[in-house]
Amino acid sequence: MQKEIVDFLIIGGGVAGLRAAIELAPYGTVIIVTKDIPTESSTEYAQGGVAVALSDEDEVGIHFEDTIKAGDGLCREEAVRVLVEEGPQRILELIDWGAEFDKEGARLSFTIEAAHSRRRVLHAHGDSTGRELERVLINKVKSFPTAQRLPFCTAVDLIVDDGMCIGAYVLRNSDIIAIYASATVLATGGAGQIFSRTTNPAVATGDGMAIAYRAGAILEDMEFVQFHPTVLFAPSAPQFLLSEAMRGEGAILRNINREPFMKNYHPDAELAPRDIVSRAIISQMVRTKSKHVYLDLTHLGKDFLKSRFPRIYSTCLQYNVDITKELVPVSPAAHYMMGGVKTDIDGITNIKGLYAAGEAACTGVHGANRLASNSLLEGLVYGARAGRAALNFKMSNEQLSIDSEEIPHPLSSASHTSLPDKEEIRHTLRKVMWEKVGIIRCGESLGHTHEKLSEWSFILNKIYLTRRELELKNMLTVAELITEAAIQRKGSAGAHYRSDFPQKGEEWAKHITLQKGNKGTRYEFAG
Ligand code: SIN
Repeated sequence: MQKEIVDFLIIGGGVAGLRAAIELAPYGTVIIVTKDIPTESSTEYAQGGVAVALSDEDEVGIHFEDTIKAGDGLCREEAVRVLVEEGPQRILELIDWGAEFDKEGARLSFTIEAAHSRRRVLHAHGDSTGRELERVLINKVKSFPTAQRLPFCTAVDLIVDDGMCIGAYVLRNSDIIAIYASATVLATGGAGQIFSRTTNPAVATGDGMAIAYRAGAILEDMEFVQFHPTVLFAPSAPQFLLSEAMRGEGAILRNINREPFMKNYHPDAELAPRDIVSRAIISQMVRTKSKHVYLDLTHLGKDFLKSRFPRIYSTCLQYNVDITKELVPVSPAAHYMMGGVKTDIDGITNIKGLYAAGEAACTGVHGANRLASNSLLEGLVYGARAGRAALNFKMSNEQLSIDSEEIPHPLSSASHTSLPDKEEIRHTLRKVMWEKVGIIRCGESLGHTHEKLSEWSFILNKIYLTRRELELKNMLTVAELITEAAIQRKGSAGAHYRSDFPQKGEEWAKHITLQKGNKGTRYEFAG
């Protein structure tokens, strides 16, 4: 088996991974592995923007309050405080490195999105904010000769020796490589692909969460999956996001009969929290027996729409939808995991040497429902913090000798056997998760789904040799964890809604943690 030795291993090339790399590269060698091309991550597709208290009308205290309110009582206050207080510094430094956010005259231009009480969302090139962040961070990473990017490498498992993470096995072409590192940062993003409707790119299969779970990491808040209300619904078009910033600029939701309906559900109407808008849309779809509602932008004017949302305008047009002239068919889709690998505010997990940041991690910053556009900021703030913590760990464990380690991965000696139809299982898994563990859940179907998932895990046990197969294994693991947590939370909070328990329930203020045990997953209600 091929072996690489490096000071720091980062798994994932979105905003959190790149920001961590920038902290580490001045002090040691860094390898950033990505499953696909280096830029293929959720960051690259983030439209709306990055929330930060930098405008004259805003304050970090107000950003704090809005985040806490959106999180429906389950945010960890300390984590939110760090986010809003360190956010402005991370953004100003990004501007220093060349980020070009949109401006009105000489001043930064801020938009508003749901549940924000101030205009605080910065955007770039109209609706390509994530791409701009990725561009700037990659350029910065490239300026360090110590940082190396390894594309098309799928993380197979973490290497854990005597309770300490010392790197990861990755699959490149058909070879397993062992990458040994003094510290490893997981920044693999989310798991939207486990749902048949999702805004996430194909790479978002929950790999980081699953490999961390297999290694003994604690995961938390897995029941909280955010569904974005407005995703293009057209038979021949991809599930393309129509940014919440469009509703921020005045777009209106209408049902199939063209009636506006959001005022009937929440005083903030179109700008109510995402979970409320998503459920309102579903209830309208059920009431009118339709598969979608409409987003109406026609009153906002062609010139404005083309300049403010150029990427959305041109993408929709490719699929024969002219957003300036016609109502756009939309319905919700899985968008963001609030839960993930449990960390403290420095990205430290329960496994020595293992750090996590961004969507793969759970600091508790989002609670039960993330405030729109807080995720890019989270990647910057917590990516940098996880990087600094990984550096401190390496500094205080200088005596660590990883180059003598040689632990073969079981896959390296495995061979192909006759396999069940994994593509069929992948397809059915995504459909079942969407239908039974989606926006509206109930105990009975969660139970049936859990049984089905366990059955698949059993059938597929130990037959994962390709990227696609490893993804399925990870998707199954994350799907089981989400379903398990959704079963345990007998109440509704934020994005987790149980039709059989519509109230918050007794233990609502606790977080559910999950960890691999000898006889399956152990769960606990923690403070
Ligand atoms: C959007 O542009 O609507 C997505 C922004 C986000 O999820 O934070």
